[in-house]
Amino acid sequence: MNADLVDQLLGEVNGEISVHMNQYLTWTCEDSPVDSGLQTVYAATMVRTLATCLLAGALLAPAAVTFHKDVLPVLQQQCQGCHRPGEIGPMPFLTYAQTRPWAKAIRDAVASRKMPPWFADPEYKGHFTNERSLTPKQLEILNAWVEAGAPEGNASDAPPPVRFATGWSIGKPDLIVEYPHELEIPATGTMDQGNMLIKVNFPKDVWVSAAEVRPGNARVVHHMKAWIRPPNSPWMKDAPEGEMYKPARAQFAPPEDGPSHGPRPVQDILAKYNPGVNAMEFTNSGAAKFIAAGSDIVFEIHYAPTGKPEKDRSRVGIIFAKDAPVQRYFTTTGINTTSFVIPAGATNHEVRAEAVLQTEAKLAWVQPHMHLRAKDYELIAHYPSGENQVLLKGKFDFNWQLGYEFAKPVVLPKGTRIESIAHYDNSGNNPWNPNPGIEVRYGPQTTDEMSVSFMGFIIGVQDDPLALFPRGRPRQIVE
Ligand code: HEC
Repeated sequence: MNADLVDQLLGEVNGEISVHMNQYLTWTCEDSPVDSGLQTVYAATMVRTLATCLLAGALLAPAAVTFHKDVLPVLQQQCQGCHRPGEIGPMPFLTYAQTRPWAKAIRDAVASRKMPPWFADPEYKGHFTNERSLTPKQLEILNAWVEAGAPEGNASDAPPPVRFATGWSIGKPDLIVEYPHELEIPATGTMDQGNMLIKVNFPKDVWVSAAEVRPGNARVVHHMKAWIRPPNSPWMKDAPEGEMYKPARAQFAPPEDGPSHGPRPVQDILAKYNPGVNAMEFTNSGAAKFIAAGSDIVFEIHYAPTGKPEKDRSRVGIIFAKDAPVQRYFTTTGINTTSFVIPAGATNHEVRAEAVLQTEAKLAWVQPHMHLRAKDYELIAHYPSGENQVLLKGKFDFNWQLGYEFAKPVVLPKGTRIESIAHYDNSGNNPWNPNPGIEVRYGPQTTDEMSVSFMGFIIGVQDDPLALFPRGRPRQIVE
C-alpha cells in the first residue's frame, strides 16, 4: 500500500476529527448548553469523512503497490539470491519485464510456501541464521501486487540493484582446488557415484573459516562433496589423481591413530554442494575447520546426465581463518540408519535413527538427507537429565537438500541421545514416488531410501572428533 497516500488520508481524517472534537469540547468545557442536533450533524460528518477516506484508501491500496517501490525490495532480499543469471532459479527476477510474466506463479508459490524453499515449521522462526521464509508483510506485498494486476509503477522508486558476489558467495578464496582437467559426462545413463582424488598435499596445518563447492557445470552436477583426506589415510590410496574412481574397499577407512599433540587429522567434510546448499561458514563461536599438513582433497561426485554430452570441471574454494580458532568445527554423518524396510504403498512409514554422544559437543548445523519418498523430518535431543528438546521439525522435499544453521549452537552434554524421526510416503499419492508397488530399503540410488542427518559440530581445538560417537559408529556413508 502506498504509505504517503495513507498518511495523507489519515491526516485528513485526523484533521476533520480534531476540528469537530475541538468544537464539541469547547462547548462542553464552557458548560454551554449542548445542541444535540448539532452534535449529531458533526458526528455524522466525522463518520462520513472517515468512511470516505477508508473507502478511498481501500480502493487505492492494491493499485498503490508497485513493482519498483514495493515488490523489488522483497525480490532482492528473498529471491534474487537464486533467481538471477548463473544461479539455480530457472528464471531471473531482476527487472519488471523478467518478473511480470511470473506474477501469478509468484503469488501461488509464496502462498503455498513452495518459495522461497525453507521447510522448518514456523515455530522455529529465529532459530536458524540461514532462514529464508517471508515475513507476513512481504507476503502481503506480493499478494497485493498480483491482485492489483502487477503494476510497474515508477522506475525512480526502485532501490539500487543488489551487487551480488559473482561466482564465490564466500568471497575471494585464498585457495581453489579444482579438477586438473575437464571430465566428459555421457549424454545418457545413470552415472554412479564416483570419487576424484586431488593430491593437494597441504604444506602445513591450516584452519579454514569458510569453504564452497562450485560446480563447473551446474546442469550436470547433481550433488557433490569435497572431503579432507588426512595424511597417511588408506582411503583412495590407489586412486589415479584427477580421474573418476570407485574405491573397491569401504568408502571410509578406519580412523588412524593421531599424533599425540595438536589437533587430530581426520576425514572431514570440507564443503557440500546440494540444491540449496553450497557455501559453508565455520566461524560460529570462534570456530574453524582443521586441515592437517599432508592432507588431500577427495571430491565425491554425483552426475545427472542431461541427454547430451556435457563437460564439467568443478572446484572447491577455501578461505583461511584470519585468527587462531578457539574451537574446532567438524562435519560428519551425525546419525543414520541402514536397517529399515518401507512397505509397498505405506503412506506414513516411520524411520528412526539415533546415536549417543560420548563427549560434550555443540551442534551448529544439520542437513537431513533422504530421497524421493521422504515427507517430513524431526530432530530431538534426549538429554541425560531426562529432558527432551526438539531441535528441528519440518517438511522434507527431496528437490531441496537444505542445511539448517543454528543461530545459537546447541550444547549437547556427554550422554545426550540424538534422535531423528522421518516419515515416508511409499504410496501412489506421492507424486515423486518412482514405484509405489515395491518395498524400499536403504541404498545409494535415488530410487532407494536413506535416513541420514549430516551434522556440523563445534568442539574444543584439542578434542578428538572421532570420540564424539562410539568407535566405528555411526558409519560415514555415501550419499
Ligand atoms: C534457494 C534458491 C531459491 C530461492 C531463494 C527462491 N527460489 Fe524460486 N525457484 C528456485 C528453483 C531452483 C526453482 C525451480 C524448481 C522448482 O520449481 O522448485 C524455482 C521456482 C520458482 C517458481 C516457479 C514455481 C513453479 O511452480 O513452477 C516461482 C514462481 C518462484 N520460484 C518464485 C520465487 C520467489 C517469489 C522467491 C522469493 C520470494 C523465490 N522463488 C526464491 C530457487 C529459488
